[in-house]
Amino acid sequence: MTETNQTPQHSLVLVKPDGYRRGLTGEVLRRIEAKGYRLVALSIVEATQEQLAAHYAEHEGKPFYQPLVDFMSSGPLAAVIIEGDACIPAFRSLAGATDPTAAAPGTIRGDLGRDWGLKVQQNIVHGSDSPESAAREISIWFPEHAE
Ligand code: RTP
Ligand code: MG
Repeated sequence: MTETNQTPQHSLVLVKPDGYRRGLTGEVLRRIEAKGYRLVALSIVEATQEQLAAHYAEHEGKPFYQPLVDFMSSGPLAAVIIEGDACIPAFRSLAGATDPTAAAPGTIRGDLGRDWGLKVQQNIVHGSDSPESAAREISIWFPEHAE
């Protein structure tokens, strides 16, 4: 018998306010499910300043930080926990490059995003970039699911 991991990987995905506003939440979730990952938590919320300061702490002080926080506060977003082996790199691959102009066709950002000439890239989704980030981000958006 083949050995399997006892604890499946989790990633924190956000459908950012641009994606939510444009009615793309279902399309993003469809791609996650079609890839084979499971949704284990889903919440439509307006982010608090505390959540955004914690979530984007690594970017504090960068020129796009305040525009990014303002953008992420501009309306509801969908927060999602996804589950399955290698879902962290797999969702980053589904999302595509940060800059939607450079993101490859076939990716969420490549197919559905574009440059709007703003101070920050509105690129539809966020996905955790490492297991450590996923654990940290899940505790910010879903304290009840903290690992
Ligand atoms: P995310 O964290 O949202 O999944 O995106 P990412 O890893 O691909 O990109 P990151 O470097 O972590 O940047 C976070 C978000 O900030 C916005 N950004 N805009 N120069 C720009 O206009 C710029 N640089 C970053 C994007 O919304 C990016 O996703
Ligand atoms: Mg990032």
